[in-house]
Amino acid sequence: MTTDQKHAHHDGHGGHGHGCHSHGGHGRDNRSHDSHGHEGPGGGATGQEFWEAFYAERDRIWSGNPNDVLVREVADLAPGRALDLGCGEGADAIWLARRGWRVTATDISALALERAAGHAAEAGVADRVDWQRHDLGASFPAGSYDLVSAHFLHSPNDDLPRETILRTAAAAVAPGGVLLIAGHAGFPPGEPNPHPDVHLPTPEEVLADLDLPEGRWEVLVCGEHERIQTRPGEEAVRRMDNALKVRCLPE
Ligand SMILES: C[S@@+](CC[C@H](N)C(=O)[O-])C[C@H]1O[C@@H](n2cnc3c(N)ncnc32)[C@H](O)[C@@H]1O
Repeated sequence: MTTDQKHAHHDGHGGHGHGCHSHGGHGRDNRSHDSHGHEGPGGGATGQEFWEAFYAERDRIWSGNPNDVLVREVADLAPGRALDLGCGEGADAIWLARRGWRVTATDISALALERAAGHAAEAGVADRVDWQRHDLGASFPAGSYDLVSAHFLHSPNDDLPRETILRTAAAAVAPGGVLLIAGHAGFPPGEPNPHPDVHLPTPEEVLADLDLPEGRWEVLVCGEHERIQTRPGEEAVRRMDNALKVRCLPE
């Protein structure tokens, strides 16, 4: 079952009462918007229209495997409460649930969430994942989490306020918890960039934009890496991604 903006504890991004960020969610947002490299309806489509059409193009878009960065950076963490932002077809959330995490997973696309819930049921972890539909630019799941993960939360649409969302994500991290953000650093060599005007932020820029309070956070990973991208029906390609992993110091 998926829920539509269930438990949205606030509209917009006012910050969290029990999270790890004293002033999360407010402030700058230059609305730099990113692309994950797919052609889509774009143009005047809203974020939800764009992503619903994107997922409707094929029965399965992503590989079904968890993201490498997630596997690498989370394998050693003790399971707790996790929040997956822009969960798509659910591979990361299901991987986490299989490892004992209790997961809240959210996406703007109802179709992606429906598929994700189906995959979770097949994997026998339906009871460990709460699927919630949110346009994260407008509402955000309630609660605080031991892990907040955002993998490739990019959109060619103008209406994804990524920096604000990621600051709200930091505010949702419980003391002692981890915020993990993976992004694309560029397009695969030889693949035309359909959105050349779009800026893909470096992990240093992502860190600066989080505007984390001094002395409260520890930077564990901040860098670029090469990855082999595999998608159903497509040739494997090498591409550069980046990752930022920060830990909120225990109180
Ligand atoms: C490039 S995909 C990544 C999916 C998944 N995290 C992964 O790594 O395979 C970006 C995801 O972000 C979601 N998304 C885009 N804009 C969003 C928004 N405003 N609120 C919530 N989810 C959004 C899209 O529907 C899509 O599933």
